[in-house]
Amino acid sequence: MQLLQWCKELELGLDNVDTQHKQLIGMINELTITVEYSQPNSALLQLVDRLHEYARNHFKVESDIFARYEYPERVDHEAEHATFIDKVKYIRRQCELLDTPMSAKIREFLLHWFCNHIRTKDMEYKRFIDNSTNL
Ligand SMILES: [Fe+2]
Ligand SMILES: [Fe+2]
Repeated sequence: MQLLQWCKELELGLDNVDTQHKQLIGMINELTITVEYSQPNSALLQLVDRLHEYARNHFKVESDIFARYEYPERVDHEAEHATFIDKVKYIRRQCELLDTPMSAKIREFLLHWFCNHIRTKDMEYKRFIDNSTNL
């Protein structure tokens, strides 16, 4: 079972954002464990709903940062967030309709999407903020 570990590489240095990233990674790990131990689908749905809600709030926090700093890559970044939310909705529908556990492919998507997004896109806006506040 592959779980995500928090590491320095994922740290932006913005306290509230880092806390939210840790929570989100924790939720994805919980989903992985739930699937691994074949918990009932209702447990899975609850976790997917929590992840959905928490991710939406987190993305709103980032959108507010982009607005505050007039971040030029805002549209692209928000499009990535929207893709993630769409995928979470798709996962929920699959869990509901098919009553089958998430496939390894979906778990992989969640695990990798988050780490890649933080390492690339989130780091980019952090660098932009650093540069604009150092002017
Ligand atoms: Fe982001
Ligand atoms: Fe983020």
